[in-house]
Amino acid sequence: MSKIDWAKLSFSYIKTDYNVRSYYKDGQWSELEETTSEALTIHMAATCVHYGQEAFEGLKAFKGKDGKIRIFRMDENAKRLQNSANGILMQPVPTELFTKAVVRAVELNLDYVPPYESGAALYIRPLLIGSGPKVGVSPSEEYTFIVFVTPVGPYFKEGFKPTKQMISRNFDRAAPHGTGHLKVGGNYAASMRAGKIAHDGGYSSVLYLDSKEHKYIDEAGPANFFAIKGNKYITPLSESILPSITNMSLIQLAEDMGLEIERRRILLEELSEFDEVGACGTAAVISPIGEIDDIDKNISYTFGDPNVAGPTCTKLYNKLRGIQYGDEPDTHGWVTII
Ligand code: PLP
Ligand code: COI
Repeated sequence: MSKIDWAKLSFSYIKTDYNVRSYYKDGQWSELEETTSEALTIHMAATCVHYGQEAFEGLKAFKGKDGKIRIFRMDENAKRLQNSANGILMQPVPTELFTKAVVRAVELNLDYVPPYESGAALYIRPLLIGSGPKVGVSPSEEYTFIVFVTPVGPYFKEGFKPTKQMISRNFDRAAPHGTGHLKVGGNYAASMRAGKIAHDGGYSSVLYLDSKEHKYIDEAGPANFFAIKGNKYITPLSESILPSITNMSLIQLAEDMGLEIERRRILLEELSEFDEVGACGTAAVISPIGEIDDIDKNISYTFGDPNVAGPTCTKLYNKLRGIQYGDEPDTHGWVTII
């Protein structure tokens, strides 16, 4: 293993030693296979390649001050992958197989779990693909489930500093009654062009509006949206956003801190009333937002000090990270220690 500068890690792929796989064929999942190969050999007519029969997950493992490794809320990721699989007619991965594969993938790559002091983490990427051949549009009869890991730093280069996000009605991420609530590859393909325009313009991400009316805030390209207004934690209720496990956790932590929770549609114009806003997700953790530019209407919304995260975002961030790294008690039973 070549030396890794843990503190300088960005969110990108670094080769680790092993990944694990299971294959669904003739009505059953195979025993877990452990491999050093980074390559997949699949049929050229596999449904994942032609028709996007693919779903993935993202979760993290953290090394604590005590040297123990904690995986955050993997049962929730197992459930969400099952939901994604059902949504696009793939064979769901049983929770037991999912959690066994995740734990094994971490255990086989212990040298790649970043040290406590670095603030980095081991990103775990479970992946489910339709691997059997079809030429007509119909679900595969065979599936491949893979879990690989890679050490990562912050998703947005700013880390825990406010970023700028962009709104434009020229791009939608997911259709009403489409697949926005599932973690399937097609949603991310659909977001790439807008994402590039945002990055080229100096924005960390696109903040999507609901695609039916373009009136309400949906979510950011790779993360959910939340806002703080006085004593309230407000986050969108929408059928086309991904149910974020980080957001679900922040809602609980906000409630524990005595904040009032509102899950409801959020009108774009309400942005001018919020004290703090942020994006949240496994990769993004909490990424405070300092400015949102509605580029179609030439309107800028700003929030607090453009260089410093707001006080409630900071409290939530510290609490979440504290639980993940084992500095705070895990009162909700969210971590699995391995
Ligand atoms: N929304 C989208 C579109 C995402 O890709 C992600 C990342 O997984 C999230 C939200 C955040 O979800 P989670 O907190 O479960 O990582
Ligand atoms: C995550 O937060 O795990 C994600 O999957 C976001 C992005 C890398 C797609």
